[in-house]
Amino acid sequence: MKELTLKDITGIGEKTAKKLEKAGVTSPRQLALMTASELAALADIGEAHALAITEAARRELEKVLGIGVVKAKEHYEQLLRQRKLTTGCSGLDTILDGGLEPAAITEFVGVFGSGKSQLMHQLCVTVQLPEEQGGLRGRAFYLDTERGFSPKRLITIASRFGLNPDEVLDNVFSVYVVNSDHQVVLLDEVERLVSNEGVKLVVVDSFTSHFRKEYPGRDHLAERQQRLNRYLGQLMRIAVTYNAVVAVTNQVMSSPDPRDPQEKAVGGHIMGHGTTHRIWFWKRKGRKRLARVIDSPRLPEAEAWFEIQDGGLYDAEPE
Ligand SMILES: Nc1ncnc2c1ncn2[C@@H]1O[C@H](COP(=O)(O)OP(=O)(O)OP(=O)(O)O)[C@@H](O)[C@H]1O
Ligand SMILES: [Mg+2]
Repeated sequence: MKELTLKDITGIGEKTAKKLEKAGVTSPRQLALMTASELAALADIGEAHALAITEAARRELEKVLGIGVVKAKEHYEQLLRQRKLTTGCSGLDTILDGGLEPAAITEFVGVFGSGKSQLMHQLCVTVQLPEEQGGLRGRAFYLDTERGFSPKRLITIASRFGLNPDEVLDNVFSVYVVNSDHQVVLLDEVERLVSNEGVKLVVVDSFTSHFRKEYPGRDHLAERQQRLNRYLGQLMRIAVTYNAVVAVTNQVMSSPDPRDPQEKAVGGHIMGHGTTHRIWFWKRKGRKRLARVIDSPRLPEAEAWFEIQDGGLYDAEPE
């Protein structure tokens, strides 16, 4: 289907289109998930007009974005048509019901060295595979908050999947994110790359580390959670608007409550509710790792074993 332009939407003429473009709104997809007040503030147009055009955009894009009222049968058929992104490990793909879901955020939680960043690198390669092999023939954008991004790992993993390492490097954008303000500002860049540059996978590794450092202790908890929540919402909107796969990592902290000594993910309930699927990684003997789906609205709490080698993540036998 041909991509709609702003002027295809009822209520948008030459003048309004110019105003919207000036405000960075270049496609009806962006309008479809905006509130009228948000648009009015952004683009210097009246709120009634903003309401009319956001509604019109929503109606036009109901089918494309999967936001219309449909019977469960149609919803189910849409899900069957959806292309998921392979992790490159059949065990992980199985617990994810085929791979990483588009238009959703999948969060990987685990202690240091559990394989989160290794998987993020692997996904930057598998997203480039043809669809018959579980890829999306797309590019990747790696937002790196910990200086952990390694083109060298991409080269090794590319060879394992039979892809040309030069081409693989050419298809991965990366940025070192210096603080949480930068992380939020970079949402514009995420949107640009996803809408114009063929990026189909967005990685944020790690999602929470800056927020955690900048808002230490209980005193700053409410503010941190509010900012995290807002950021998550904005990222989710981009995922849905452009049907992108979003993979984020998160760290584990020891529980502050001695009566409940379980490991906890940073960001608490905000992260738990704001992401679509949450997968935990645990370190086991040597290279072995255990993954388990926790807290997913659609996936059962299944487990998979993998190990980390030079070529990336591989399926492994249970311990
Ligand atoms: N080239 C390689 N060959 C084999 N194993 C590797 C290679 N590179 C890294 N590893 C292994 O991967 C593990 C590190 O995994 P990773 O960096 O994904 O951890 P992480 O979960 O992102 O941790 P953190 O929370 O510190 O970011 C280490 O155990 C390391 O030995
Ligand atoms: Mg890491």
